[in-house]
Amino acid sequence: MATKRWFTLLRNVTTAVAAVAVAASFATPAIAAQPPSTDVVGGTRAAQGEFPFMVRLSMGCGGALYTKQIVLTAAHCVSRTGANTSITATVGVVDLQSSSAQKIRSTYVYQSPTYGTSTGGDWALIKLASPVSGLSTLPIATTTAYNSGTFTVAGWGAATEGGAQQRYLLKATVPFVSDATCQAQGGSYPDLIPSAEICAGNLTAGGVDTCQGDSGGPMFRRDANNAWIQVGIVSWGDGCARPHAPGVYTEVSTFASKIAAAAATL
Ligand code: ARG
Repeated sequence: MATKRWFTLLRNVTTAVAAVAVAASFATPAIAAQPPSTDVVGGTRAAQGEFPFMVRLSMGCGGALYTKQIVLTAAHCVSRTGANTSITATVGVVDLQSSSAQKIRSTYVYQSPTYGTSTGGDWALIKLASPVSGLSTLPIATTTAYNSGTFTVAGWGAATEGGAQQRYLLKATVPFVSDATCQAQGGSYPDLIPSAEICAGNLTAGGVDTCQGDSGGPMFRRDANNAWIQVGIVSWGDGCARPHAPGVYTEVSTFASKIAAAAATL
């Protein structure tokens, strides 16, 4: 619990210094010299266009295009429901510094009303001022059919626990971890809300995970038609990529109808 709270705080600190830290890291040769095979934590660099639905949000979170004008992210990445023109979404690029990036402002934020309650619901929607051009969206899982197997995660968050935000989109694959196993890991994990959260990670070895700054980004897999489908939203973990500390993701299928209903009002 303490660790979980700590990392939530850490994300907020990271957010506060994100503009400076990211701007600085972009200019440092140390980042360019990073081997492309290390990083999310334990991932590799995504190809331009590989995950066209990926969104980077200016408060230091990830997201996914639910529609061309609505981003699905985490509730803990936003502060409240209401008009909000302070968020910038960067889309269409793996390189956040690319001149081909589309940068679009928010107009409104919808934060799940059950976030922070016993039923959970770490999800939020951000309406954009205009639709993105030429990008595909990421459908969300509406049943539990895809809540198992191997998942893909991606983001511009830290590549090591406590590390810097990334200029280039990183990706990794993580295996499903059952609620019972996840809850049995000690630390913050007994707090897991099984109906609202889904765990993933290399249980005994660790080494691959999402991390601070990936929050709000999607966890996804292939559906029966080999199309990407979103099953999770990066939410929390005890540290990053530690053994016996899986990543915890909002269970999208649980909230699919609420998400659709909220989106229809935006
Ligand atoms: N809460 C973090 C954020 O705001 C995400 C943490 C994910 N941690 C993990 N071990 N998978 O960016």
